[in-house]
Amino acid sequence: MRPTQAAFPATRLRRTRRTPRLRALVAETSLGVGDLIWPVFVRSGENIEEPVRSMPGVMRRSVDRVVEAAREAADLGISAICLFPYTDTAGRTADCAEAWNPDNLSNRATRAIKAAVPDIAIMTDVALDPYSDTGHDGLVRDGKVVNDDSVEALVKQALSQAEAGVDIIGPSDMMDGRIGAIRSALEGAGHMDVLLMSYAAKYASSFYGPFRDAVGASGALIGDKRTYQMDAANSDEAMRLIERDLAEGADMVMVKPGMPYLDICRRAKDMFGAPTFAYQVSGEYAMIMAAAQNGWIDGDRAMAESLIAFKRAGCDGILTYFAPAIARSLG
Ligand code: PBG
Repeated sequence: MRPTQAAFPATRLRRTRRTPRLRALVAETSLGVGDLIWPVFVRSGENIEEPVRSMPGVMRRSVDRVVEAAREAADLGISAICLFPYTDTAGRTADCAEAWNPDNLSNRATRAIKAAVPDIAIMTDVALDPYSDTGHDGLVRDGKVVNDDSVEALVKQALSQAEAGVDIIGPSDMMDGRIGAIRSALEGAGHMDVLLMSYAAKYASSFYGPFRDAVGASGALIGDKRTYQMDAANSDEAMRLIERDLAEGADMVMVKPGMPYLDICRRAKDMFGAPTFAYQVSGEYAMIMAAAQNGWIDGDRAMAESLIAFKRAGCDGILTYFAPAIARSLG
């Protein structure tokens, strides 16, 4: 693999770094707008854009404003928009039934975007946390997150999203067996073209803090998610999860969070060669923005550097709150 190199001075590796053109010529990876998926937060109401305190520059948008955002993203060439609902407290119950309400926020936003901006792909999240009174991704019985009944609920949620017209379903719940169950339910209901991007290697992470604030789950969460999300110490387990989810019918796999887990991205790509994505999560975004706002780092350069790292690590694409900003700078 490695070519033999002549000794110095025949080889001077600085030669290819001398000018911007030469550096571009030998760049091994590139980032394009087509690699981007933009996560957006949806809330109730009309004509509302409400800032998320812990994520400078990120908004919770009412459905009409999400449609505008989707149009802007499509014009920039961003491949997909990923919807996360901020559900009112009335929609957060023990049975999480709002998750499969055909008229819930996520499904209404999907229909509105599909009608107005048909050329952007829509991704949605399958997990019960926006609809749960405990803030957990599955159903809670006697203080425990139960697996199999949760999978039944997640299947209903996924079907209602497919019915609304989403292109990509992203199960982020980490229950065992959900990819197979959702895949066969989708096939059974005639939704054979709906893609599944499994949050296969999703770690129990402190970097989700600002997201839970954005979707209003931080106050609600009782306990933590360590009985279903992965332990940061593990890498072989991530490969087992990815292998299993691909075998159950996932079209694409995701590693989450991103930057602290680039080794997992590289290993996954090398081992399976499947379409591989990383989620640069809320805490990663918040860290860069906060340091930039303090004048401690150059925010634009840190953003670009953090994103090319995912491509170098083998990812095909990235979910990032920076999507519109980086798309503008690439454009
Ligand atoms: C919940 C979900 C989370 C994120 C995406 N889907 C949070 C969690 O697992 O608690 C995090 C995204 C981010 O931090 O940007 N199913």
